[in-house]
Amino acid sequence: MVIGSGGREHAMIWKLGQSKNVGKIYAAPGNGGSSGEKKCENVDLFGRESAEEEIQEALIRYAIKESVDLTIVGPEAPLAAGIVDRFRAAGLNILGPDSRGAALEASKAYAKSFMEKYGVRAAKSLTFTGCGEALEAVRAHFNAPGGTKPPPLVIKADGLAAGKGVIISASEAAAKKAVRSFMEDGALGGAGKVLVLEEFLEGREVSVLAAVSAGPSVKKGGAIIPFVGARDHKRRFEGDEGPNTGGMGAVAPVPDFSAAAQNDFYEAILTPTLRGINAEGFDYRGFIFFGLMIHGSECKLLEYNVRLGDPETQALLPLMESDFALLCTAILDGSLERFPLAWKPGAVCAPVAVAGGYPGEYRKGDPIAFNETAFAKTGALFFAAGAARSPGGAAGSGLRTAGGRVFTVSAYGAGAAEAREKAYAALKAISFDGMACRRDIGAVFLKP
Ligand code: AMP
Ligand code: GLY
Repeated sequence: MVIGSGGREHAMIWKLGQSKNVGKIYAAPGNGGSSGEKKCENVDLFGRESAEEEIQEALIRYAIKESVDLTIVGPEAPLAAGIVDRFRAAGLNILGPDSRGAALEASKAYAKSFMEKYGVRAAKSLTFTGCGEALEAVRAHFNAPGGTKPPPLVIKADGLAAGKGVIISASEAAAKKAVRSFMEDGALGGAGKVLVLEEFLEGREVSVLAAVSAGPSVKKGGAIIPFVGARDHKRRFEGDEGPNTGGMGAVAPVPDFSAAAQNDFYEAILTPTLRGINAEGFDYRGFIFFGLMIHGSECKLLEYNVRLGDPETQALLPLMESDFALLCTAILDGSLERFPLAWKPGAVCAPVAVAGGYPGEYRKGDPIAFNETAFAKTGALFFAAGAARSPGGAAGSGLRTAGGRVFTVSAYGAGAAEAREKAYAALKAISFDGMACRRDIGAVFLKP
């Protein structure tokens, strides 16, 4: 059973469907793409308004009734709310960190203290629980003696904020406004009560997703096995301009994540993270995501996510040679360290199609025109996100838009250039009113 409803979950379901070791997949709740995958059935057990605990109890009853062998959790919210603890207490197999481990994503202040405690190389930061002290620190940052222009300040809300919790401010006034909106005005509800002020890092971002198997049930200290590097493109517009989004597309591997940088990541970030997970005694059998900033060959950690990334997963799973279901069982039974994780040569480019207006206001319910013949010619994969299938199966594919990020197409090529060409050719076969995308996913661009 795969929990979640995005492009990441559709990609996991597609990859699991390839495995001869998988007989049946339940998508809870899935989307208009997962319902069309072989072996897959969407299950909607709950109204969207139900409390998270009720949803989790319903999922447990369903998993028991259907004898589900393994559950994989896509998004962070159920992990933070303790789904792994509940499933394991009910004797069910599930992949993810326990709720203590999930705090590595759910609380940026906690993640920062963990990085410091275990010597994980990261951006310098300070945590604040009072608005007055935070404003004073902002003032001090922008008025440091020396006369040179101070660098921007990164302001992060402690809690989960669906991509809205990070503001980069170049001026004292803007930084103070951001601090007040988080801490005093409650712009993010409870998520902004505690604040992290962080040094601004220059460089190129890389996402390293990894399989983790560590904790009390895993022998010999467990293991973290990283996937090849990927790059998300978070800003809405070409050249990395415009507002932050959930991710406009991904590419893998990342040409500028050099062997030297990978070694540095292994030593300065991955190894101490595994040590910390063991020392804290988390039951962490699932996935972890390292958001890195790379400068030359030196890596610093910006953040942990305790799950696979979206849209990185849509680029990485089509590149994975190994059986994803077997990887999942190796994580679960503690044999991950010996798992021969293998990757195809070549590259995958995975642009995301979004609704007009996204990440601001956008329309839902527009029909999606899908030219199956033209799409099939490109060899690309279609992963639905905010796309629902109309009941009754109207003419064509019957898909309608149902969210801001509507779908991802993932195309494989011998190199990044070929992958890009195929991906953008595949996008031409699909359209809906107001459809938009970034044209530069996977193109090399340098931040100023
Ligand atoms: P998030 O929404 O938490 O994934 O973070 C949003 C984005 O803010 C990251 O992907 C980075 O581009 C940027 N960011 C976060 N922390 C820093 C930092 N210390 N220096 C520079 N950019 C950062
Ligand atoms: N692509 C970033 C994330 O999944 O949060």
